[in-house]
Amino acid sequence: MTTPVLEARGVTMRFGGLTAVRSVDFTVNAGEIVGLIGPNGAGKTTFFNCLTGLYVPTEGTVSYKGTVLPPKPHLVTQAGIARTFQNIRLFANMTVLENVLVGRHTRTKEGLWSALLRGPGFKKAERASEERAMELLEFIGLAHKRDHLARNLPYGEQRKLEIARAMASEPGLLLLDEPTAGMNPQETRATEELVFAIRDKGIAVLLIEHDMRFVFNLSDRVAVLVQGEKLVEGTSDVVQADERVIAAYLGEPFEGDPGEAEAAEVEAAEAAAEASPSTTSSTKGEAK
Ligand SMILES: Nc1ncnc2c1ncn2[C@@H]1O[C@H](COP(=O)(O)OP(=O)(O)O)[C@@H](O)[C@H]1O
Ligand SMILES: [Mg+2]
Repeated sequence: MTTPVLEARGVTMRFGGLTAVRSVDFTVNAGEIVGLIGPNGAGKTTFFNCLTGLYVPTEGTVSYKGTVLPPKPHLVTQAGIARTFQNIRLFANMTVLENVLVGRHTRTKEGLWSALLRGPGFKKAERASEERAMELLEFIGLAHKRDHLARNLPYGEQRKLEIARAMASEPGLLLLDEPTAGMNPQETRATEELVFAIRDKGIAVLLIEHDMRFVFNLSDRVAVLVQGEKLVEGTSDVVQADERVIAAYLGEPFEGDPGEAEAAEVEAAEAAAEASPSTTSSTKGEAK
């Protein structure tokens, strides 16, 4: 069960004087869900962009199933890697179904143009594609909205649709950049189930996430990027217990962490201590 799907070796990305990603070695194996976390500006999205051919890494190589990938997004998609973006990128004025159909055709440039321009042969030739697209919409729970315009979907459903569109290219590896950004807790829970279901279809998943509970629940392995370098990698338990990770995040509130509730608790305890001065224990002084 340790067949590598994705292998990054010594990936470095510089922007002028800034090294956003520094000599990162990174592997995703078949059947795995891997989390990539790190404070804002750590280089996570840049690293994703190096994996998907959007950026040509300054140094290093990226391989998919043993073959080095050319740094061209459509060739990377064709090879079997699909992705979603931190900021939703859908065709707002296309329907839900059409967005998924376009996803199927990002495998080839010709197919993409044919889907976008909807040439005469398009409809007929696409019956099989449409069936497959509908299967995907069933899978993510949006089949009933097939004819809605993407821009009219609530935010959480737009994120789901993006995942369906990415899956339409029939990837062996799916990269998700902050899939729960902007979601409410119920939507986040549903996305968790969705990611497990995707993995159960035999698609390996690499996800960038800010929501720690989400990422630690889901991931077989978590890698922590700090200032462009891979600081720690391991199971959720190992990473959560690592002091270097905690230190790297200090000053950056964990999203999804009960930070506010905790602060309220401390305040309440302080108020209680003031009300009854005999209490000796103090919650003060432990800066968070
Ligand atoms: N296209 C770019 N040109 C110059 N600097 C960039 C570019 N993209 C990202 N950076 C810089 O690289 C660093 C890492 O950014 P990013 O990969 O977006 O971090 P993360 O996704 O972990 O928040 C940041 O300092 C950011 O400003
Ligand atoms: Mg990012």
